[in-house]
Amino acid sequence: MVTEADHSHDRLLDEQAAYFDARAAEYDASMEPEPADADFEEWQQLKAGVRALRLTGDVVDLAAGTGIWTELIGETASTVTLVDAAPETLDLARSRLGTEGLTYVVADLFSWEPTRRYDGVFSSFWLCHVPPDQTVGFVDLAERACRRDGVIVVLDEHTFDDPGLAKAAAKGDDPWVSHRSVGDGREFRLVKVSHEPDEVAGLFDQRGWRTTIHHRGPRFFLLSAQPPSD
Ligand SMILES: C[S@@+](CC[C@H](N)C(=O)[O-])C[C@H]1O[C@@H](n2cnc3c(N)ncnc32)[C@H](O)[C@@H]1O
Repeated sequence: MVTEADHSHDRLLDEQAAYFDARAAEYDASMEPEPADADFEEWQQLKAGVRALRLTGDVVDLAAGTGIWTELIGETASTVTLVDAAPETLDLARSRLGTEGLTYVVADLFSWEPTRRYDGVFSSFWLCHVPPDQTVGFVDLAERACRRDGVIVVLDEHTFDDPGLAKAAAKGDDPWVSHRSVGDGREFRLVKVSHEPDEVAGLFDQRGWRTTIHHRGPRFFLLSAQPPSD
């Protein structure tokens, strides 16, 4: 039976995708720190960390957005498939990166099924937007998309100062819901959950995967997980 709570959950996820679509043009400026910002040095470390992974073969970038990180993955991968629910963000990624070796897929990751397995499954700043009751679903999807000799990479933030969380809480929303507005004043709800790197590593470890935490800084983390060898 589909309940009112299910509908409200679906509405939240639709609103979240609409939020990213509506603010696609503002996204890069809001994400990439300027040299004077406190996070700038850590961001450079993250970039170096992603490059050092040297992902090869065919990679899928889950919730690729405007392609900030796809660009780095594409330096070593043969192909990258960018999946995202917001067409505007993928349009910006296409303008940035072109089409050679790249496939753009507009899809909802809560229902998308990979039609093949990839050498690399990459996800940046997506897990924090997955509702807590679907964290395991995120790991399941990444696992289904990954070849047995492949690798899953998760890059995310574990600490954030998000005034939208307090705003949402004041309106009685769940503690992992945030309220955000875009340039034209429209307001949206989205999911914002903090995960510690050890917790995320544990999700893979308990399946027998071998995880490595490559970066654990004041704000961000980067980890990889490889399937157990048979
Ligand atoms: C914080 S951004 C991360 C983008 C990119 N990975 C990065 O690191 O810059 C979150 C992304 O999730 C996408 N998104 C939101 N809901 C989605 C859904 N249901 N399915 C697929 N992508 C979704 C948004 O469009 C947005 O591009």
